[in-house]
Amino acid sequence: MYNVAIVGATGAVGEEFLRILEERNFPVKKLVPLASKRSVGVEVEFRGETLKVKELTCDVFKEEDIDIAFFSAGGSVSAKFAPCAVEAGAIVIDNTSHFRMDPDIPLVVPEVNPEDIKDWKKKGIIANPNCSTIQMVISLKPLHDEFGIKRVDVATYQAVSGAGKKGMEELLEQMRAIFNFKLDKKVEEREVFPWQIALNVIPHIDRFMEGGWSREELKMVNETNKIMHSNIEVAPTCVRVPVLRSHSEAISIYCEKEVDVDRAREVLANFEDVKVIDNPEKNEYPMPIIATDTDYVYVGRIRKDLFNPKVLHFFNVADQLRVGAATNAVRIAEKWIEMEGEKFLQGKRNGKK
Ligand code: A2P
Repeated sequence: MYNVAIVGATGAVGEEFLRILEERNFPVKKLVPLASKRSVGVEVEFRGETLKVKELTCDVFKEEDIDIAFFSAGGSVSAKFAPCAVEAGAIVIDNTSHFRMDPDIPLVVPEVNPEDIKDWKKKGIIANPNCSTIQMVISLKPLHDEFGIKRVDVATYQAVSGAGKKGMEELLEQMRAIFNFKLDKKVEEREVFPWQIALNVIPHIDRFMEGGWSREELKMVNETNKIMHSNIEVAPTCVRVPVLRSHSEAISIYCEKEVDVDRAREVLANFEDVKVIDNPEKNEYPMPIIATDTDYVYVGRIRKDLFNPKVLHFFNVADQLRVGAATNAVRIAEKWIEMEGEKFLQGKRNGKK
């Protein structure tokens, strides 16, 4: 059993962590919810118990004898405090972008590259990829093994929950203002998104970098190839849409081999944590309202290109607070326990003697 800390326990992903650790019966000896000073004393529920949020400090990991620390409080918080957790003898599973491209830190989606977990020892940290990347690589992996993907063109439809609780509140407030015919005032007050998000779509997530690509788009390019150990050309367009929760992606893959729709459906349906919903004639296809609150990547609208027999198109949807964040991190921890847990606990016991 493990002492587990959740850094950012009051946030949108933090709350999912609490639910998922409980649902999956994760071997928690003690759970320590951490957040900023503002949240000290806030109560959270875990396994029927009420726990009080503590302040994140460098010392708290040692004081609480933490074994596993899940970080989800932003890149600068991870940069400052993840080393403290490692120093105190914990493994860190980090949900921010801060460590993802460090060559000594594995970037893991357990369905795709579980073998990389063994490199956790190099720095004591495993990085959890970007939400859009996670759901994309889970659907790419079986297709890559089958057809050999050379290039991916993807347009995302990303929910406001990707911007945390504040993003969700901003959409809801603007929608309330629309119903009260007072939208102009609310739009003036916007904080999270660069434009009105209610009744709009914004082709802009994270800041713009060289060449007109956004940082979110470049994360998808770089992280996909790090996870898949590949050299796939990836061209994303990341778009924020007024959906509360669950990201969608329209994906086109360009393959070495000719694609086959039935075979694509079969390999996807047989892949871990993927569900194929693909009966367009019955209006059955993946949508955010289907994916929300579940741990699957839903794939549908699978079709062969009309002009190029080596190109396949499909649509995927997943709950990015779960599959794209908390569930992926917990799955990493479960695999890590399977592979390294006993040795780790033994090492800790020996260290204390
Ligand atoms: P707090 O509620 O105390 O601000 P979200 O992604 O939904 O916005 O949540 C962000 C999470 O990260 C919250 O739990 C928030 O805690 C936490 N957080 C943000 N900044 C800090 C910080 N400087 N130190 C500790 N926790 C932080």
